[in-house]
Amino acid sequence: MSQDSPNQGPQLREHVYDGIQEYDQKLPNWWLFTWYITMVWFVIAWVAYYQFGVGMSDEKNIQRAMDNIAEVQKQELEQINDDKLWEMSRDEKIVAAGAATYNTTCVACHAADLSAHLAGAKLPGLPLNDQEWKHGGNPTQILTVVRKGSPDITKGMPPWEPQLGLQRVVEVVAYVLSKHEKGEPITLAGDSPLKAK
Ligand code: HEC
Repeated sequence: MSQDSPNQGPQLREHVYDGIQEYDQKLPNWWLFTWYITMVWFVIAWVAYYQFGVGMSDEKNIQRAMDNIAEVQKQELEQINDDKLWEMSRDEKIVAAGAATYNTTCVACHAADLSAHLAGAKLPGLPLNDQEWKHGGNPTQILTVVRKGSPDITKGMPPWEPQLGLQRVVEVVAYVLSKHEKGEPITLAGDSPLKAK
């Protein structure tokens, strides 16, 4: 049997290790061709992907998917209504997240108990635990003030959406609403701009 003919069937190699011997067998053509095609394909893919920028990287794909999710979430938040906000205000998780934001961002002007008073002294903000609202007491009206700030910027209530993002603004409003009951009477403050309308 000739050693160099590939078609003579498996050849037992002379090499022995731990009593184990190996066959030297030509790989079947279907296997070899799959291997060659893989190599050719690698070159094509490498040139296309890295040299010509064909196709999107995983990073870009993930980024695009994330952007889509963020966009859908934003749209959902944009379409938020009073009922939805009331619902969120009874959701423990959302309220807890809102409380955390409140206690870092709002507490200085509105006080931890939402009274806008600290040890008898009046803080810059308006009380958020009473039924009197200057800019309207419907959940979406409260949301608008927190998102966009007071219509009169000189009053000292800045817009929070640019800093916190809509998600956290919604949560903090849910927290404020958690201190209120749906259907409780709402009065407008004496100097409310809504009164004039
Ligand atoms: C720098 C002080 C300051 C901070 C911080 C602040 N506010 Fe205010 N807030 C005000 C002032 C002042 C007003 C009254 C604005 C006006 O008279 O138009 C106000 C008004 C409001 C109103 C409207 C009240 C009403 O009667 O209609 C809401 C709601 C409110 N703030 C929520 C928040 C929330 C939530 C945060 C935290 C994200 C926050 N504020 C942070 C100062 C502040």
